[in-house]
Amino acid sequence: MARYSKTVIVLHWLMAVLILAAWFTGEGGRHVRENPPVLHFWLGLSVLVLLVPRLAVRLFGGIPAMEAPQRPLLDLAARAGHWVLYGLMLGLPITGWYAAGRLGVPVTFFGLPLPALAASVQGSPGWVAEVHETGGTVVLWLAGLHVAMALWHQFVLRDGTLSRMSPV
Ligand code: HEM
Ligand code: HEM
Repeated sequence: MARYSKTVIVLHWLMAVLILAAWFTGEGGRHVRENPPVLHFWLGLSVLVLLVPRLAVRLFGGIPAMEAPQRPLLDLAARAGHWVLYGLMLGLPITGWYAAGRLGVPVTFFGLPLPALAASVQGSPGWVAEVHETGGTVVLWLAGLHVAMALWHQFVLRDGTLSRMSPV
């Protein structure tokens, strides 16, 4: 059974936990200006930082070959879905960082103050912040579908897909 590399497996599960935690700690509305969700910022920025090695390994290392790929269309859909997930892992932290700037909320990472990506405004933080909030919901739905597909592969098709990404 061809498996993903240890690095990919560790990053996959660590980032899955961070994304879930970022979703739970995300807050919207006026409250964000008064009491910024710093843990949310930290979790989301960690996803952004970890995406760098993850994409590097993915782009230069490739993926383990499937043993008996039978459904080319499904395989294509899975790959497309994975790239949408990568897109969200990049887009969500950046739009969130931008939204924080619009709200006039400072963002730090391990004590390091990060530059604001946008000038602060009064009132609504605008469409990028809305894209961020919607994207936060979309990533959860897509990850749910992703989990369902992984379980279907493992237990219905029995093609060992989950074992490819299993930490043990
Ligand atoms: C994987 C990463 C992230 C996910 C899944 C995520 C998810 C979310 C969600 C679901 C909300 C909306 C909560 C609600 O309306 O009840 C939200 C709001 C927000 N997030 Fe994130 N976020 C991520 C990363 C970040 C980062 C890195 C920052 C900043 C550095 C950030 C800043 C914000 C801000 C400022 C809001 C409030 C936006 C507004 O009130 O319009 N997020 N996030
Ligand atoms: C309990 C939750 C999860 C399970 C059971 C799971 C399972 C898996 C499995 C089995 C694979 C390998 C697929 C294959 O061999 O083709 C995989 C790949 C992948 N997963 Fe997850 N996953 C989970 C959560 C997440 C989350 C939250 C994200 C990000 C939002 C994510 C993003 C990805 C991506 C991008 C790949 C593709 C790796 C590549 O480039 O080939 N996963 N996942």
